[in-house]
Amino acid sequence: MSEARTDFPANSEVGTGSEQVPVRPMEFRRWVEGLPKYFAADGDIAMSHVLAVLSSTFPEGEKFFVRSVAAVRDQITDPRLRADVEGFIGQEEMHGREHQVLNDRLAQHGYPTRGIDSYVRGLYWVRERIQTKKVNLAFTAALEHYTATLAELLLTDEEARKAVGKPGARDILTWHALEESEHKAVAFDVYKAMGGGEFMRIFVMFLTDLLFILETSIMGVVSIAMDRDARRHPVKLARSLARLPKSPFVSWRAVRILAEYHRPGFHPNDRDTRQLIAEWREALFGREGQLTEVLAS
Ligand SMILES: [Fe+2]
Ligand SMILES: [Fe+2]
Repeated sequence: MSEARTDFPANSEVGTGSEQVPVRPMEFRRWVEGLPKYFAADGDIAMSHVLAVLSSTFPEGEKFFVRSVAAVRDQITDPRLRADVEGFIGQEEMHGREHQVLNDRLAQHGYPTRGIDSYVRGLYWVRERIQTKKVNLAFTAALEHYTATLAELLLTDEEARKAVGKPGARDILTWHALEESEHKAVAFDVYKAMGGGEFMRIFVMFLTDLLFILETSIMGVVSIAMDRDARRHPVKLARSLARLPKSPFVSWRAVRILAEYHRPGFHPNDRDTRQLIAEWREALFGREGQLTEVLAS
């Protein structure tokens, strides 16, 4: 895992996106081949399950984001936002594809990634038949604030990166985090460009808070309950569960960043992450950038 990246697909089928939201073809399959079951730091059982659950929701969740934005892209008149939308779609498609690679590896270890994938697919199938395009965009913008928050925590907090543990899983999440920061305002701006109002935006965020916490908690409990290896080590599992509330991902800082979205007049770029993005672009993809060497150090 110490070599520079040389395995980018030569002929990418994806678009190039925009300067702010570039599309980077990635190929992580080889990188996750040796990933152990408990890939979080110190073989932490609960954190491995939490990350596996999150990763399991991404492919279908991100397809929903893409459909929501693509449904209105022809109505966007601002050429810059149109270019960013193309970048957003390309980035999210690539995230879904590469998280599927990680999820396939996790499924080999017995994580219920396929069950969660089917549940999320079914849920959006139903919801998209009930919700308007604007409501779909409001949910996409709300969930994008969740991913942008997780991304900011991961990119600014070394403890958070350490908590993810093994290279492979950490590589995918750090690359994903950079791109979530790059496109954090796109779905929001599309929602606004389609005339989305503040009341619906904030109301949908409250619903998202409820659904996100409820669903990921239930999925996490089910995932751990199905894990025979974890049940064989009850003390280790209990210690791991006790550590979870102290994780950087469930910190007050995380709650504070998430809460900002509920403020009327909020815009994702109110949190200035330009410097953070520049640093991580250079670290991961700069001329000297060597993805795994940076992450493994
Ligand atoms: Fe994503
Ligand atoms: Fe995203």
